[in-house]
Amino acid sequence: MSAGGDRLPTVEAAAAKGAHVPLIERFRERLPFAPGDPLVSLQEGSTPLLRAPLLSELVGATVRLKLEGANPTGSFKDRGMTCAVSAAVRDGAKAVICASTGNTAASAAAYAARAGITCAVIVPEGRIAQGKMAQTLVHGARVIELEGNFDQAFALVRELTETHPIVLVNSINGFRIEGQKTAAFEIHEALEGGLEALCIPVGNAGNITSYWRGFRELGAAPRMLGFQAQGAAPLVEGRVVEHPETVASAIRIGHPVRWEDAMAAARDSRGSIRAVSDEEILAAFRLLASKEGMFCEPASAASVAGLLKYGADGAEQVVCVLTGRGLKDPETAMAYNDGMVIPCAAQIGPIEEAVLGDP
Ligand code: F0G
Repeated sequence: MSAGGDRLPTVEAAAAKGAHVPLIERFRERLPFAPGDPLVSLQEGSTPLLRAPLLSELVGATVRLKLEGANPTGSFKDRGMTCAVSAAVRDGAKAVICASTGNTAASAAAYAARAGITCAVIVPEGRIAQGKMAQTLVHGARVIELEGNFDQAFALVRELTETHPIVLVNSINGFRIEGQKTAAFEIHEALEGGLEALCIPVGNAGNITSYWRGFRELGAAPRMLGFQAQGAAPLVEGRVVEHPETVASAIRIGHPVRWEDAMAAARDSRGSIRAVSDEEILAAFRLLASKEGMFCEPASAASVAGLLKYGADGAEQVVCVLTGRGLKDPETAMAYNDGMVIPCAAQIGPIEEAVLGDP
């Protein structure tokens, strides 16, 4: 066992049931782990599925939000990371690495810290949201800022891990897909198999691949409606995008690693992968925050933007995946919001005017 392995708990023999148990334990029968394997968990998964009354009204369907920002590091990546890092520790790894637009980095850093192994992340210089950078640093990872974009970072990290004994924890790693498929299990269970369409943002395309695998394993086949940002929509355009651009930094990716898998998920589920503009993403982001009380990050709002733009394709039971929480990206929230800040002198008159006057 590796560095931190001997102080870790192990996967228990019986699959635990219900909420508030580590994801690997809850779904052990469907995951590639055995009793006695080391378990690196921050108690991820079992996230809320929240009804969205306004969205339901606007779309004419029952719309729910899968709140993946409720995971320990604030994004869905934790589902895959508990599996990828547990497996890495089981196999004796001393270090993990990833290329990232931010959330994979934060998650890898946290799980590596928990496991007592080292973590390096390669991020596009100046292009990842501040909350994600803060998380990654506070967990003690080595952050390499690449003078290049995510796709270049990924190509380099792949090359590096071919010749060095460092485990790659991007979604090319099969354990990531295995872990992330459990969100499909949770939705299937909560809706008793009634889901008809899943709206999901698509970047590197690991998550849409995971959900589709999860649903297939249960014999379910909701439509997979994937959405890319217009300036970073290789799967929509059918070609690699050399210089992807979008306000949704998490999905600023021009050459997704799970390209074929994502296309197969859309095709086989009679779904689609379509594009939404930055304006549409930001409108959905603001609507979610100011009308549904749900603060997600911009990339997450792409799922709702797509639903509002294209409709539910006749589905009555719809889930939009909100992949990460809003606090990840304070800069964008500060720049695009419906709130107001009113400077005020410390006297009752100005306070009255500020609180009660016309905005
Ligand atoms: N939403 C968020 C918040 C993400 O961070 C990502 C991907 C996606 C959606 C898209 O998921 O890549 O599986 O299609 N973030 C990766 C990262 C690329 O490095 O954190 P995907």
